[in-house]
Amino acid sequence: MISGNEYTCQFSRFLTTNLEKKTLKSIKRIAVFTSGGDSPGMNAAIRATVRTATKNGLSVMGIRFGFQGMIDGDFVEMHHHSVSNILQRGGTILKSARSKEFRTLEGRQKAVANLKKHNIDALVAIGGDGTFRGATELYNEFEVPVVGVPGTIDNDLFGTDETIGYDTALNTAMEAIDKIRDTADAHDRLFLVEVMGREAGFIALETGIASGAELILLPEAVKKLEYISETLREVFKVQRRSSLVIVAEGDQTGGALNLAEQLKDEFGQYEMRVSVLGHLQRGGSPSSRDRVLASRLGSAAVETLLNGHSSVMVGVVNQKNILTPMHKTWSEKKSINFELLELAKVIR
Ligand code: F6P
Repeated sequence: MISGNEYTCQFSRFLTTNLEKKTLKSIKRIAVFTSGGDSPGMNAAIRATVRTATKNGLSVMGIRFGFQGMIDGDFVEMHHHSVSNILQRGGTILKSARSKEFRTLEGRQKAVANLKKHNIDALVAIGGDGTFRGATELYNEFEVPVVGVPGTIDNDLFGTDETIGYDTALNTAMEAIDKIRDTADAHDRLFLVEVMGREAGFIALETGIASGAELILLPEAVKKLEYISETLREVFKVQRRSSLVIVAEGDQTGGALNLAEQLKDEFGQYEMRVSVLGHLQRGGSPSSRDRVLASRLGSAAVETLLNGHSSVMVGVVNQKNILTPMHKTWSEKKSINFELLELAKVIR
């Protein structure tokens, strides 16, 4: 949750804030793209962007494969019907990529030349922090107006309570862990389950609570091996049955496989097993909550551009649409809810 951030504003107070606002040449044509790791709900965000833009009389292009497609000139015209029947689909119809070439000035110059060639006046960038870093460079170096829409399962962007795809990923992981719990229980086994989150433990924390994990390990709350061993000893002493440990991919233990290596001597009798959930967490049909969030933010991105703002991300905080300067979305750290971590200990 954000508090006291002087840079954020509610839409209703657009004109009275200190957000950067440029007098843009009038916007007639925008382009939308998805970049970085895909997330469920990106299609819903594309749909809302295209439909809000066309309703406002703008023409729209889609850029396929994110920044790489911008460099390669992979542009497609989009209309109202181009986004029919995609709301419920996972992945992204515009495809995604992580572009090394875009990290070079030459790459960015090629991308901007293509934007000019297609008469693109402004961009809607859907993705995570890597996407927003790239978009910020386009704005700073070439003054390309751009608004960001937060799309990543990791939920690690400052300026929005939730990112698009996070809720779906939580539910996918929880369902998978419920199944692992069944077999763990049948065999009295200790399972170490690794969930995604390279830099952040949001998925681990909430799936851990939702699946009744005995221990949750996150990069934000570093635990020594002695603490982990002691906790497991206590759990087995009291319960003498199966146990689940949820490990965030980015945890300092080096992930579930590494942790299993470190624990195998002491807990070998529990037939330890490791399960890395991996990319299945990124796929699937978006939850209703992600569809609503994506629809709301895709539309808000177009309105934000039309209102003359740029280099900002649209987000939802406390049910209100909020703008945050793009650079703050990664330079400010969004905190996990430590109360939930304490709760997990009480109810395990
Ligand atoms: O950024 C989202 C994310 O799913 C991370 O949690 C994960 O570490 C990463 O993407 C995996 O990326 P890739 O698809 O390149 O393997």
